[in-house]
Amino acid sequence: MHEPNHSRIHLPDEAATIAFATRFARTLRPGLVIYLRGDLGAGKTTLVRALLQTLGYTGRVKSPTYTLVEQYTVAGLNLRHFDLYRFRGADEWESAGFRDEFDGINVCLVEWPEQASGLLPPADISLTFQILQDERELLLHAYTDAGQQCLNALPV
Ligand SMILES: Nc1ncnc2c1ncn2[C@@H]1O[C@H](COP(=O)(O)OP(=O)(O)OP(=O)(O)O)[C@@H](O)[C@H]1O
Ligand SMILES: [Mg+2]
Repeated sequence: MHEPNHSRIHLPDEAATIAFATRFARTLRPGLVIYLRGDLGAGKTTLVRALLQTLGYTGRVKSPTYTLVEQYTVAGLNLRHFDLYRFRGADEWESAGFRDEFDGINVCLVEWPEQASGLLPPADISLTFQILQDERELLLHAYTDAGQQCLNALPV
């Protein structure tokens, strides 16, 4: 029997998003590409910050709003946190060397992936935040076997 390749989680407050990030952190494997979708202020960076803290990162987790990418090495994983909201297109993709970051080893978490469509490698998983006033709804979708294994491994 196949597991469904999508699911939906209700996140009534920021604490619920952090709790989900804690579960999700445990399932990460090298090479995963994860798109984080949702409007400004939806909770994408909140999720990444909590995920890094779960893995044991104790430093400050800045939003890569201006740097476009921040890198972390923690719990035996190399992580790249992208925010492509201000990404300018193909020239910047080349000059910043972003292609090399998607090397099958780095775990790449990408906010605003739609800003680099056509350049960005495909996702294993997308996490899409929908804003409902003070609450959030999170849609989880796996596109590859690796992504599906990750979602199947989510602890209860
Ligand atoms: N369920 C929720 N999950 C996450 N954040 C929530 C939730 N409810 C309210 N918030 C608030 O929404 C904001 C989320 O901000 P965050 O920086 O994580 O958004 P973002 O999706 O990364 O936005 P941007 O696209 O601007 O980078 C925070 O102020 C947080 O307190
Ligand atoms: Mg953000």
